[in-house]
Amino acid sequence: MGGLHYGHGELIKFAKGQKVSAPSTVLVSIFVNPLQFNPTEDFKNYPRNLEEDCKLAKASGADAIWAPSFNDVFNGGIDSHFQLLAPAQLSKELCGASRPGHFDGVVTVILRLIHLVKPNCLFLGEKDWQQYLIIRQLIKDLQLPVELIGVPTIRDKDGLAYSSRNQYLNSAEKKKALELPKILEKAAFATSLGQGFDTASMKSELRKKGLIVEYLEVVDPFLLKPSRKKEKFTLLAAAILCGETRLIDHRFLMNRKPIVAIDGPAGSGKSTVTKKFAEKLGLLYLDTGAMYRAVTWLIQKNRIDIKDREALIKMLESIDLKLQQTPKGEQKVLINNEDVTSSIRSPKVTQQVSEVAALSDIRNTLTAQQRLIGKDGGIVAEGRDIGSSVFPNAELKVFLTASINERANRRAIDLKRQGFKVPDLSSLKRQIKERDDLDASREISPLVQAKDAEILMTDGMCIEEVVESISRMFRLKVPEELWPTP
Ligand code: CDP
Repeated sequence: MGGLHYGHGELIKFAKGQKVSAPSTVLVSIFVNPLQFNPTEDFKNYPRNLEEDCKLAKASGADAIWAPSFNDVFNGGIDSHFQLLAPAQLSKELCGASRPGHFDGVVTVILRLIHLVKPNCLFLGEKDWQQYLIIRQLIKDLQLPVELIGVPTIRDKDGLAYSSRNQYLNSAEKKKALELPKILEKAAFATSLGQGFDTASMKSELRKKGLIVEYLEVVDPFLLKPSRKKEKFTLLAAAILCGETRLIDHRFLMNRKPIVAIDGPAGSGKSTVTKKFAEKLGLLYLDTGAMYRAVTWLIQKNRIDIKDREALIKMLESIDLKLQQTPKGEQKVLINNEDVTSSIRSPKVTQQVSEVAALSDIRNTLTAQQRLIGKDGGIVAEGRDIGSSVFPNAELKVFLTASINERANRRAIDLKRQGFKVPDLSSLKRQIKERDDLDASREISPLVQAKDAEILMTDGMCIEEVVESISRMFRLKVPEELWPTP
């Protein structure tokens, strides 16, 4: 829109830092769009300072600036241009209630800008979350060939979200305006502790401080309808008038960090991509298959008969199973203080692990441990039953799969790399199939695609492509503001 500030600068830096396409050229468009102001609003006085904007954009790493005139964007001129209507479901809520036509103006101009610039990626601040959602819907509905990437809200050190309109505030108003982020932060903190808060008293507190509250609501973050408390996280959104200046702000409310569940059959490449994805996002990586393998290894070492329940229970009572992350992001598996990282990958363990994993005592013990590890979230876990049983509330569930041929080929490469004897391809396929059948047919938590899981067929995809696809799925489910900072 123009009137660039520090927040825009950070957004430009964020865009420049993304390895989304090579060579990545960041173009900053500056266009105060008259279509998104209604007659009573501040279009005429909206901050414009192209010279300063250019300086800031350049200093932040922009490769080009594009500041078109109205007629450059709309050939028909102000009185005769096509107008798009934003979907009512998203555009009538929150800001839409008091700004009729606003989002129609937004989508009309964004569609034109996308057509004119043809970007690979479009970076938008999540500060205007409703606008972000509507543009996301626009891109999806019209199948525009552009990827939308949200950029977290940037705040100044007092907590006030950067906005071009902040410059309208005098110092007394600025002080008053700070009450909004403060109160939102308080609610977010209460939620993180599992406590509640009351929007009515929040509103009255803001009014007492001299602010006019246009809305302050807890809504479903994607539908923008009043929250039904079923969502995994919610959006607390507000708009206020501070003097003459309208300010908006929000917080996503969640009582833990996000969880990603990656399930799939044997040899579908889960470990490799999960590790890389976890590293990229700064999430903890949990390979639950390694836990079942470690227990199988211990059973074999102690020559326990798996039909001897008493012996199994005794073993489980004293078991000390640890997954340690090395600084390189590798996972070390220790059982009763013995490092079994590579021995659990042996064909001997592989051959028995599915049988062991079907035992209820083993599953109950390991599932409880997995839930404990993931209780605060911030984790990506892979296995067979993560989305369906261990973390049924995971924000993203992926069912990663590949054809049996592809999986057997990958397994052969893995075995060779680990120094094990590689069976011929048809025996490998048979072994994989047997294990899949055992995993899928067992009574407790069998291997299934959870009903809300996204299926990802990885034949012919390289590791980076799979990681990129999962990141894209994650982006659709979790606002960038809730992503852990790597
Ligand atoms: O060989 P691959 O890497 O595909 O399998 P894994 O992830 O190491 O898992 C080994 C075995 O552990 C699986 O075949 C399952 O029998 C079992 N498992 C399970 O039952 N539940 C999980 N959440 C993870 C693994």
